[in-house]
Amino acid sequence: MFNPKLYNTPYHTTDLYKFKFLVTGGAGFIGSNIVEYLIKYNAGHVRVLDNLSNGYFENIKDFMGLPNFEFILGDIRNLETCKKAVEGMDFVSHQAALGSVPRSIADPITSNDVNVKGFLNMLTVVKDAPNIKQMVYAASSSTYGDSPTLPKVEGNEGNPLSPYAVTKLVNELYADVYSKVYGLHAIGLRYFNVFGPKQNPNNPYAAVIPIFCKAFIEGKQPTINGDGLTSRDFTFVENAVQANIKAMLIGVEESLEVRELGGLNTSNQQTSKPTNVINPNPLQKHEVFNMACGDQVTLNEMIDILNQLSGQQIKPIYGPERKGDVKHSKASIDKISNFLNYEPLFRFQKGLEIVFEWYNEQFSY
Ligand SMILES: NC(=O)c1ccc[n+]([C@@H]2O[C@H](COP(=O)([O-])OP(=O)(O)OC[C@H]3O[C@@H](n4cnc5c(N)ncnc54)[C@H](O)[C@@H]3O)[C@@H](O)[C@H]2O)c1
Repeated sequence: MFNPKLYNTPYHTTDLYKFKFLVTGGAGFIGSNIVEYLIKYNAGHVRVLDNLSNGYFENIKDFMGLPNFEFILGDIRNLETCKKAVEGMDFVSHQAALGSVPRSIADPITSNDVNVKGFLNMLTVVKDAPNIKQMVYAASSSTYGDSPTLPKVEGNEGNPLSPYAVTKLVNELYADVYSKVYGLHAIGLRYFNVFGPKQNPNNPYAAVIPIFCKAFIEGKQPTINGDGLTSRDFTFVENAVQANIKAMLIGVEESLEVRELGGLNTSNQQTSKPTNVINPNPLQKHEVFNMACGDQVTLNEMIDILNQLSGQQIKPIYGPERKGDVKHSKASIDKISNFLNYEPLFRFQKGLEIVFEWYNEQFSY
């Protein structure tokens, strides 16, 4: 049920048993990892809303039947479904969206429907839900668009380069307006190329790390779009989970004092102390944070590491650059470190080792 390599560091200091969490998109890659953390640490209730359009029941099937887990098969484009999903909840981690720049270029209408209309539905039901203390949502590094500045710093964005980037920018604009007009508490996490277990390599719009891992396991040459010098701030999924947990709980963990944890629902008992110590600076009702490692890794460097890990000497095939992609990306993580006490405990190489091993074990794919 739990990956023994993951979530052995608690990122919360309060007892999760007291709280109910909604994770939209909880059958997807990042959402199901958030669910794994919440269940591992005995959250009072974890509800997933997902229409399985891009997620997998497989990602949550181990949690089905647990008394504190609930799955709603439904669509965020339906306002009534969203209303039911937030009923009784304390926190929302909104991950449901259609990811992928190429998908949005192929079908901008559907990406807009899910990512903008669905997002607005969620904001609207959250603002009307009396118990919800914080909504954390998946924003995106694509919001930096054509800005050439590195590292990417919040407040210094360029123009979007794809329909997907437009949808994620619109999310931030709506969340900001809802915080000003209705007093909604929301935090957007601008993810920078997240990778890790439960990310599917077989999806037509799969991301580069799952595709490359699969190619290496099959002993095939992966195709690189461009010259391989394209760089990204690849971020292991446990860092994204840490950021979600800290962002959701920031209002209830304002104390600088580090408290003892509640019970841990695993035989792999913890001894490590929680790492949360919250910066006392005031946060606005709506904030966006980069969520990354602050590193820059090229695709060629990734190929070198995969060759080391697999004991092979595979050379990639170089193809044309992809439309809508930016050449380089690297985040400043100063803001999230200062305000949420976020620390990327899993750097690129360690994360790649874990996920490569996971794909090797999984390959019933
Ligand atoms: N993975 C990354 O590197 C990355 C980078 C930037 C932003 N993001 C954002 O993070 C979030 C999670 O990404 P992910 O990589 O886990 O993607 P994912 O596709 O694995 O997860 C998204 C989940 O949302 C569900 N979903 C899609 N449309 C829905 C709808 N209409 N109603 C209900 N559920 C729906 C899918 O079935 C899926 O389970 C997304 O919002 C994505 O845009 C991801």
